[in-house]
Amino acid sequence: MSVNPDKMDSRAELFDFHGVSMTHYFTDNWENIQNFQARPDDILIATYPKAGTTWVSYILDLLYFGQKSPERETSIPIYERVAFLEICVPPLESGKDLADKLPTSPRLIKTHFPVQFVPKSFWEQKCRMVYVARNAKDNMVSYFHFNRMTMIQPEPGDWSNFFQKFMEGKMVCGSWYDHVNGWWKKKQTYPNLHYMFYEDLIEDTGREIDKLCCFLGLSPSTEEKNRIACGVQFDNMKKNNLVNYSTFAIMDFKISPFMRKGKVGDWKNHFTVAQNEEFDEDYKKKMKDPTLQFRTEI
Ligand code: A3P
Repeated sequence: MSVNPDKMDSRAELFDFHGVSMTHYFTDNWENIQNFQARPDDILIATYPKAGTTWVSYILDLLYFGQKSPERETSIPIYERVAFLEICVPPLESGKDLADKLPTSPRLIKTHFPVQFVPKSFWEQKCRMVYVARNAKDNMVSYFHFNRMTMIQPEPGDWSNFFQKFMEGKMVCGSWYDHVNGWWKKKQTYPNLHYMFYEDLIEDTGREIDKLCCFLGLSPSTEEKNRIACGVQFDNMKKNNLVNYSTFAIMDFKISPFMRKGKVGDWKNHFTVAQNEEFDEDYKKKMKDPTLQFRTEI
């Protein structure tokens, strides 16, 4: 459905929701979301916003359906193939309703919720989950440009204002630090969780697809894997109108494209030397777990 962005309730305010900053677009459907009935073969793609959700969503979509239903690749936008569980922006169909209606098996469902917000049926059904994490500096930069161009997100303000807010966790879906750590901790007790890194995907997409296949129990041919690795490269996704969000009404591509840069290290074009020092100091205090390490350059 197309929506006139001028008619929408537009930019939302952040508020504290069970200890996490959120906007009403992601909490209005809370009861229904919490009562969502997951199926054992559902796959949950979980990320902090701007960590590579669309990239991994498209990889999974191609792995499961690229050969089985090739017409899907040329007719349905990615945001209708993969349901965004918590989104609720009337008159668009809610993510929960879309998930309920997905005709595929498995159903691919994405969420930006911190781990403690995931509906309990996903855990009860022992669903497989893929978490993608991205280094905080690039994640912050990507989120800044996303909030500039996405009309339902809070106003990002200028870069220095956004920089402070990010460190304070005053972002939709809360603190990056809590998010990546919360999901990392969950991995220790929940074996059906595959935790992957954006930087690894950039470094060697084929290797990461192999790991995903291993986790999901899939064995595509080498030819098929190569086809997928090629189709999901940044330049190809940027050109592909069914995965680049160019058909999604609430984004203004004149401000910034959704497929923006797709790089590790773009933070260097945004952080001042002083900001970098302040950030690193604060990071050390918040990221105490030595087993969770990020790369800010490769
Ligand atoms: P940038 O803004 O740094 O370019 P999400 O899908 O979670 O919203 O994440 C979007 C970010 O992932 C954007 O980052 C986007 O360019 C990047 N991205 C999407 N597909 C990609 C790909 N195939 N290769 C590299 N980066 C990709």
